[in-house]
Amino acid sequence: MATLPTHVRIVEVGPRDGLQNEKTLVPTPVKIELIDRLTDTGLQTIEATSFVSPKWVPQMADATDVYTAILKKAGVRYPVLVPNLQGYERARAVGAAEIAVFTAASEAFNRKNINASIDESIERFLPVMERAKADGVAVRGYVSTVLGCPYQGDVPLADVVRVAKRLHDLGCYEISLGDTIGVGTPAKARAMLSAVAQEVPMSALAVHFHDTRGQALANILACLELGVGVVDSAVSGVGGCPYARGATGNVATEDVVYMLHGMGIITGIDLQKLIETGRWLSAQLVRDNGSKVGRAA
Ligand code: HMG
Ligand code: MG
Repeated sequence: MATLPTHVRIVEVGPRDGLQNEKTLVPTPVKIELIDRLTDTGLQTIEATSFVSPKWVPQMADATDVYTAILKKAGVRYPVLVPNLQGYERARAVGAAEIAVFTAASEAFNRKNINASIDESIERFLPVMERAKADGVAVRGYVSTVLGCPYQGDVPLADVVRVAKRLHDLGCYEISLGDTIGVGTPAKARAMLSAVAQEVPMSALAVHFHDTRGQALANILACLELGVGVVDSAVSGVGGCPYARGATGNVATEDVVYMLHGMGIITGIDLQKLIETGRWLSAQLVRDNGSKVGRAA
């Protein structure tokens, strides 16, 4: 039996990855209340919003207002997604202390998502990384489509490893490996993480599963057994990427926390408060709760 970590840090991506795919504009006060409620659950990292082009993702056009208004609790990190220098400047103008840059292991997906090849996207990060280093801003890196791409199909492991290593070499303190369209199964997830961990220390890796085919918890467990200690998830399972055909919700934070606590793994999160937040959000969005734990009890 593999040794599981004693603690796991959850990166809550609901306010960004979760809401960016909503067709109807979610009112800014709802986004702010969501983040404040999440802060109150004991989460340590909450990805608050994204400073991407509002022409591309209108739902995130209120990033400045959201970030400015949220309660920033001491000790809690509120990273924001940034695609380029323009996004970095907007993020810094409101005092963001941590950002996330994003690219993919698949050329076809990158073209749809950010209108750039993998190499071009990394070129765009260079000035962002330079500025972040000078400003003392922490940078997380995302690699999408690590287990399959909606446009290209299979994604060679070597491409995942190359892109993850490049982001780490550039100075990202953590690399989140994303199964953007939820096609992975535990054996594939395990093989992918093992391959990346040959080049990037496991302590600098996170996993990001979408639950499109119901495999997310099994994939997370497989990765925990390999030693990963950071898991991305979204309250009530909201989410998807507007530029990933067929992408559905992220794995629900409530379900991940229920599993972790059930195995004696510490997260620091108050599950009951999290469940209430997921139910509240589902009511705000007028949709079924995507968390099984949130629907039970
Ligand atoms: P582009 O059209 O190639 O770039 O977009 P551009 O430089 O020509 O800019 C077009 C217009 O947008 C210009 O305005 C810019 O000023 C403006 P105009 O001159 O036409 O009036 N613009 C901006 N405005 C505000 N903030 C900015 C910004 N940048 C440009 N930062 C670009 C290239 C990268 C900007 C665009 O493709 C983009 O914003 N894409 C973001 C798409 C996105 O947010 N996707 C979802 C996030 S990724 C994801 O969900 C996956 C993840 O969760 C992990 C996983 O699940 O696997 C992370
Ligand atoms: Mg995602």
